[in-house]
Amino acid sequence: MGFPTVRLRRLRATGNLRRLVRETQLSVDDLIYPLFIVPGINVENEIASLPGSYHYSVDRLASIITEVTALGIPGVLLFGVPPQKDEFATGAWHEDGIVQQAIREIKRIAPELLVVTDVCLCQYTTSGHCGPVRDGIIENDPALEILAKIALSHARAGADIVAPSDMMDGRIMAIRGVLDMQGFEHISIMSYAAKYSSAYYGPFRDAAGSAPQSGDRKTYQMDPANALEALREVALDIEEGADIVMVKPGLAYLDIVWRVKEAFGMPTAVYNVSAEYAMVKAAAAKGWINEECLVMETMVGFKRAGADIIITYHAKEVAKWLRGR
Ligand code: PBG
Ligand code: ZN
Repeated sequence: MGFPTVRLRRLRATGNLRRLVRETQLSVDDLIYPLFIVPGINVENEIASLPGSYHYSVDRLASIITEVTALGIPGVLLFGVPPQKDEFATGAWHEDGIVQQAIREIKRIAPELLVVTDVCLCQYTTSGHCGPVRDGIIENDPALEILAKIALSHARAGADIVAPSDMMDGRIMAIRGVLDMQGFEHISIMSYAAKYSSAYYGPFRDAAGSAPQSGDRKTYQMDPANALEALREVALDIEEGADIVMVKPGLAYLDIVWRVKEAFGMPTAVYNVSAEYAMVKAAAAKGWINEECLVMETMVGFKRAGADIIITYHAKEVAKWLRGR
């Protein structure tokens, strides 16, 4: 049957009709808000490359955490900007490191709020790489031990979910092994499973001071041209014990989100990364777009592609807009 009996416009005629037949629902339940923690006291500075996002010192976390909780956002993702770097990222697993302190403070303020921690070396290494460098090579297996130490230190401080973002082979197994051995078998791993080598991380690297000092990340992060390889990456991480798998970046990789969800049916996260956010903010500042409509359309796009979880710098705004609807 077709036109004129069938008229698809019938069900688009009013807002309530559209609500009734809407296939995809976006909810505050889907959101994770990233936070950048810096050393010092009394710091709450807007990040130039991420307008509307801030660097917080640990003592200034209370108001943002209270706000995030009041908005009903289920979790935050923590990134540390440490005071010092060294060759082996030892600052990343100090008991009193920047992220470890922040975890304890957030758990004191809002015990129920999920604390997810980014587990990587690049903010903490002088090279800015996600593994130790020897003779110009970013070494894989020595990175695993360090990553496991970082994840363990986060778990000890009270993290609920650790999220390795390094793209070393075998890190999920290494982290799962150490967590289980140390009595943290209940702590989940959200794997940055299909993470591409992307120009979309630029504003983040400014915010986190984590740009590689030489070379690029192409020997460990994925080639943007590859999709089948993403399925292999995700399959391995699931086999090694990942509880949630992530695709990153988001917008240029929605096909990967879809394929991953279809192939594995796992809890699937998408990271709406820094340049995706910064481009929106820049265009909005120019008055070139309707920011709310555009961002909400993007969020629905992530959900329609199969994402269960959206990590986004827009999380607070999205939560507010959802309330307003
Ligand atoms: C560190 C890390 C990066 C991001 C999250 N964790 C940067 C990178 O890999 O260079 C990017 C997040 C964003 O752009 O919003 N491994
Ligand atoms: Zn890294």
